[in-house]
Amino acid sequence: MSVQINKLHPHFAVEVVGLDASRPDPALCAQVQAIMDTHAVAVLRDQTLDDEQQIAFSRCFGELEVRPAVRTQVTERIDNPRVRHNEIFDVSNLDQAGRVLPPDDDRRSYALGNQLWHTDSSFRQLSATWSLLSARIVSPVGADTEFADTRAAYDALPEAMRARIDGLVAEHSIWHSRARRGGYQPSAEELRARPPARHRLVRTHPGSGRKALYIAMHASHIIGWPDDEGRDLLDELIDFATRPEFVYAHKWRLGDLVIWDNRCTMHRATPFDDLGLVRDMRRTTVREAVSA
Ligand SMILES: [Fe+2]
Repeated sequence: MSVQINKLHPHFAVEVVGLDASRPDPALCAQVQAIMDTHAVAVLRDQTLDDEQQIAFSRCFGELEVRPAVRTQVTERIDNPRVRHNEIFDVSNLDQAGRVLPPDDDRRSYALGNQLWHTDSSFRQLSATWSLLSARIVSPVGADTEFADTRAAYDALPEAMRARIDGLVAEHSIWHSRARRGGYQPSAEELRARPPARHRLVRTHPGSGRKALYIAMHASHIIGWPDDEGRDLLDELIDFATRPEFVYAHKWRLGDLVIWDNRCTMHRATPFDDLGLVRDMRRTTVREAVSA
């Protein structure tokens, strides 16, 4: 079957039909790399992946992040946990036994931070290149994922703003975004284990050679600026980059594998009835080889 590529948005994001990620080979991986370099978000339809296959496909594109420990209130031993591999980030509303998380679960409050515009792992010095999210059970209502194109947004910035932000560096922390949404309180050990990182606000996207804004709700302030002024500028840039003309909203279908390039996009989750419906999504995350 030949591969079809269909545009989903005028600036970025494509649907890819007729490609089987469960059988990665160098030619297929090169094809996906080329699609991603240009379009930054790729929706691979009709993928039936298990966790091992998702990990194997993701490893074509670099080393994978390992998920950090998040406190959980489930202390019982589970004989058949849903997720066994540390390379799989569990983006479901389920515990390891497959039960819907209760309202007061730490994983649930931690996940609320994903409803803010962000780029995955910008709070790490070696941040993420791509994220790959596999839809195993989709919610029939809500739970879209929205993506914003920060290359197109940079291109559209007024010249004076481009000059103003050239060379600026922001500090990013996972605990900053968690404090702004969800009220997750990290332990002293978590604070030590995940210190902040610093990144330039404008970076050149390696795949396309285009400049992109590298901003996110993890960014707390701009180095050398008063905190409130830096925060205001970051909010202004996020508001600009997430105008409707730069945003693609993805409605999930069972079997979608959506890949996004964190270096030139932002994304956010949208709400759904997570106490009544079941959603099982699993993410692998490719790490930068060197800090950009
Ligand atoms: Fe995310």
